[in-house]
Amino acid sequence: MSPKTTYPTHPPKERAYLVGVDLRKYPSEISLEDSLAELTRLSETAGLEVVGETTQNLETANPVTYIGSGKVEELFSLVEEALADVVIFDNELSPRHQRELEKRLGTHVRVLDRTALILDIFAQHAKSREGILQVELAQNEYRLPRLTRAWTHLERQTGGGGGSAGSVGGVGLRGPGETQLEMDRREIRKRIAFLKDELEKVRAHRQRYRQQRKRARVPLISLVGYTNAGKSTLLNRLTRSDVYVADQLFATLDPTTRRVELPGGYNALITDTVGFIQKLPTQLIAAFQATLEEIAEADLLIHVVDVTHPNAQAQANSVNETLKEIHADHIPTIIALNKIDDLPDPDAASAVVAEFPKAVAISALKGVGFDELMRMIETELFENYTKISVQIPYTEGQLISLFHEQGQVEYIEHTRKGVFIQGQIPGRLLARYSGFQASAPTDKLTDTDLVDDPDLIDD
Ligand code: GTP
Repeated sequence: MSPKTTYPTHPPKERAYLVGVDLRKYPSEISLEDSLAELTRLSETAGLEVVGETTQNLETANPVTYIGSGKVEELFSLVEEALADVVIFDNELSPRHQRELEKRLGTHVRVLDRTALILDIFAQHAKSREGILQVELAQNEYRLPRLTRAWTHLERQTGGGGGSAGSVGGVGLRGPGETQLEMDRREIRKRIAFLKDELEKVRAHRQRYRQQRKRARVPLISLVGYTNAGKSTLLNRLTRSDVYVADQLFATLDPTTRRVELPGGYNALITDTVGFIQKLPTQLIAAFQATLEEIAEADLLIHVVDVTHPNAQAQANSVNETLKEIHADHIPTIIALNKIDDLPDPDAASAVVAEFPKAVAISALKGVGFDELMRMIETELFENYTKISVQIPYTEGQLISLFHEQGQVEYIEHTRKGVFIQGQIPGRLLARYSGFQASAPTDKLTDTDLVDDPDLIDD
């Protein structure tokens, strides 16, 4: 009998070599070592096998090769020895850095950076039409300035694992005297314009949906947090649903909204959305602006923090930074310190809770701390009243009546431009009035106005 031949069921993984650079001029809150550990997880999530890593401390980046020329030579040998196919920089490389490094490390080695890697993971995980369009747009904008060789090289460059990667469409007929490169650039620009148009349509649809939701006046809670903190797990437990949970970075990309019933009988909507990460590339923030704006419209945020992570505090700070960037830092926030079941000393949880304002210790996996969390949500949304002063234009009549219905009006004055109100409203409504803050009435009515327009006089 001849021995049975076995064939591998998966193609061999691409081998990645990681490079981390500490720039003294731009110190980071997360240590180089931890940042590289995160890059390793990102690489694994993208389906790569990490075969080595190297680091360098520099004052500033070398304008040509990012790392110093001696380090490039060392990297060349390390990469050869480890039989690596890809070199991934933890820092953002300019198109020039990338070109020069590829030239010096040999044509068989591709050079990527953190942004390209995250884009690749996003491409693999995007499910909704909007998500797929957003990622493809970000990928094309990333590629355009980096396009130096023909298309085939470009296709390889992002790994092309998922849905939208490399789906830039067929290459058209070449114009007279046009090089392949020019043609590729033209194709990408055309595709970018097409994607922007499509996104516009999807967003208009979403805008209509948002308006309906506002009219229904069901408060909206957004789960935010560093990638892998446990947001999807919490959403599932709170709403008894089955959103995809994985021990992977960026497992959830598209916003998922579910209804949650609070103990007092109130209802709220709760949304789980894309996880944050340090050095979140600006390109991605721009591409996901619309999705992130959903967060800015929430009435309450639950910031999920993985307390078992050694960098929990730095991760929380980096989430707060992104919240600031998307103008969501004014929204009332509850901090849910998650994974307490995994703490070696469960009592340590209460010490951590004391470090954060409005925090609760939970285990999303085991359902621990949910009564307290629910109570806090209810208080924030329906009981806590906040003092505000606003001047609301007459065109926003529904906001004026909402204040009368659900808030407590302490002072009111009609002006030429709108109604100035001072009073208190429940926390869940704060976001609606955020654009109308005013410390005192402006454009006050004069006696003549009042005589001319008796409708404006309060009974
Ligand atoms: P992204 O999609 O990357 O943003 O992640 P996420 O924040 O939605 O995290 P997810 O819910 O996918 O959980 C990430 C990992 O943490 C999974 O392996 C979960 O099982 C695990 N996890 C979540 N909550 C807990 C918890 O309370 N305790 C423990 N021990 N593990 C948890």
